[in-house]
Amino acid sequence: MPSTRSVPVRRAAAPSPSASPASIGDAARTRRYVVGISGASGAAYATRLIRVLLDLGHEVHLVVTEYGRQLLHDELGVTRLDLGDLVPALADRADTLTNTRYFVHPHKDVGAVIASGSFIHHGMVVVPCTSAALGYIATGSGTNLLARAAMVTLKERRPLILVHRESPLSLIDIRNMEAVTLAGGIIAPANPGFYLLPESIDDLVDFVVGKCLDLLHVEHDLKVRWADRRAQMRRRPTDPDE
Ligand SMILES: Cc1cc2nc3c(=O)[nH]c(=O)nc-3n(C[C@H](O)[C@H](O)[C@H](O)COP(=O)(O)O)c2cc1C
Repeated sequence: MPSTRSVPVRRAAAPSPSASPASIGDAARTRRYVVGISGASGAAYATRLIRVLLDLGHEVHLVVTEYGRQLLHDELGVTRLDLGDLVPALADRADTLTNTRYFVHPHKDVGAVIASGSFIHHGMVVVPCTSAALGYIATGSGTNLLARAAMVTLKERRPLILVHRESPLSLIDIRNMEAVTLAGGIIAPANPGFYLLPESIDDLVDFVVGKCLDLLHVEHDLKVRWADRRAQMRRRPTDPDE
């Protein structure tokens, strides 16, 4: 298994002093989100979420655990967290977006801005979320930046969404989910629906990412709505033999 230790992490430049959500551009449109990637399967959910948030004009603060980096490498071939490497579709805008709307924070830096409740944001998604991360978030451990940012998100009563990926669940996972839920977090397991008749892995990824966006109250046009499929089915001519 390739080592993640040699992979460079660039320290994020501090967001501009004017960058509280109330003053980031048009506050109604530009919002600030924290994305945490831990070492569960499903790295594509994270990169898709980051792409959509940036495409929609939002600000993204990223923290990736050591095993999150491992999974980014193993599943997507990503070795660097530079935007052009993480989201190749945004490579042509990477220079403009980096340190203006895309910030990377080293996961050992528990003094990063996202570790503080005074850093106002509109929600955090841990995607994919391991059982380990679920556990350290449930117990209020702040020993790495992802854990610290998540516990701060909970204490500030902001949306915290954990896209957990593991199966089956132990009683420990279930109890940790209960603890996070009681603290105000949302467990949104990475289990896409099939009622929209997905034709590709991208469709399945979008289903899960769309669910995250819904939970963050971010408007989007990813295909997640049963109502659209239902309307489509109703338009279909009925079989005369039925
Ligand atoms: C290839 C690979 C796949 C993994 N998939 C999962 C998974 O889907 N869910 C999970 O809870 N842990 C998974 N793990 C185990 C976690 O990466 C491991 O528990 C790690 O310590 C989690 O640390 P983190 O939560 O700080 O990233 C996987 C590990 C590897 C190497």
